[in-house]
Amino acid sequence: MEASKSKDSLIVVQRSERRFLDLDFFDLSDQLLADGEVKKQRIPLNINTNMLKIGFLGGGKMAQALAKGFIRAGLSKGEMMLASCLPNDIGSIETFKEMGSNTVFANAPVIDYGDVLILSVKPQVVPKILPEIHDNKKLLISIAMGVSLTSLERALPEKTPVIRVMPNTPALVGCGATVFTRGKYASDKDAEVTEKLFSAVGICEQVPENLIDPVTALAGSGPAYVYIIIEAMADGGVKMGLTRPIAYKLAAQTVLGAGTMVRETNIHPGQLKDDVTSPAGSTITGIHHLEKQGLRSALIDAIEAATLRCREVSLQTEKDK
Ligand SMILES: NC(=O)c1ccc[n+]([C@@H]2O[C@H](COP(=O)([O-])OP(=O)(O)OC[C@H]3O[C@@H](n4cnc5c(N)ncnc54)[C@H](OP(=O)(O)O)[C@@H]3O)[C@@H](O)[C@H]2O)c1
Repeated sequence: MEASKSKDSLIVVQRSERRFLDLDFFDLSDQLLADGEVKKQRIPLNINTNMLKIGFLGGGKMAQALAKGFIRAGLSKGEMMLASCLPNDIGSIETFKEMGSNTVFANAPVIDYGDVLILSVKPQVVPKILPEIHDNKKLLISIAMGVSLTSLERALPEKTPVIRVMPNTPALVGCGATVFTRGKYASDKDAEVTEKLFSAVGICEQVPENLIDPVTALAGSGPAYVYIIIEAMADGGVKMGLTRPIAYKLAAQTVLGAGTMVRETNIHPGQLKDDVTSPAGSTITGIHHLEKQGLRSALIDAIEAATLRCREVSLQTEKDK
């Protein structure tokens, strides 16, 4: 039971059934003093979230990146996480073990264990797992591509708080780009917890659900495009005489530096490009080649195609149910 004070009387109200909200690090907790006064205690924002028990339903690449990122950011500890993996997925089991986390071959123990559940299986596996969740007490964060809030909520017990998140793997090194959207029954506190978790491993923004597919195409898949760009730039350097190690190092640092310039200076990327493009210089010569080869259109096409693919997967997942 918890106590709260109205104007003149002390009303005793039933404590929420929601289990994770009882964790004192999120809560405005009421402390009932001897004289009947109620003191509100706000736990500071740099909360000790080492207490947060996270259950990963599916322990693949993205789950591992998030788990490592949460540990790195001091938001959870290896021993406070549990992941379900298939018995043949030795690599994932080993990775969680190295983090100090346990793994299990079934989803039920994870569902029981976590204060927050992170649904991190491939979209086609989602319908197999949701029926295993039998109560609506825990926040379910789904990172599954193309699986809508409506279909998640429909398959879960009524009023389950759900948040749909689209993260990316650089969360592993604290440079993730995540967006999230709230389900019908997710509270402000659920959104706050989600934002806190994912902001600890990069940037995190709330968006309307209809933008999740384009975000998936741009930021979820984006690292893969950029790895190809880095590899190709390094290949160019090697062709012109650089050693492999220095070529990769320079290409990666250049991408990191350019991204940081855009983010930190807030100067339009076109302006930053103009600033380094001197008349009759080598940069404009290189840019001319990129434009002739259609780099710009290729990237626009890639993001359009990837968005459409997300929508296709989404429709397929709906049909499979
Ligand atoms: N990777 C990314 O960059 C990224 C970015 C944003 C969102 N996502 C989303 O994150 C989700 C996971 O992606 P991922 O790249 O991490 O894929 P992944 O590496 O294949 O991870 C999925 C994991 O779930 C396991 N699994 C399969 N069936 C299961 C079951 N019935 N119960 C429990 N676990 C099961 C898989 O095991 P097996 O490998 O043995 O089948 C695998 O370890 C996807 O929905 C994806 O859309 C990924």
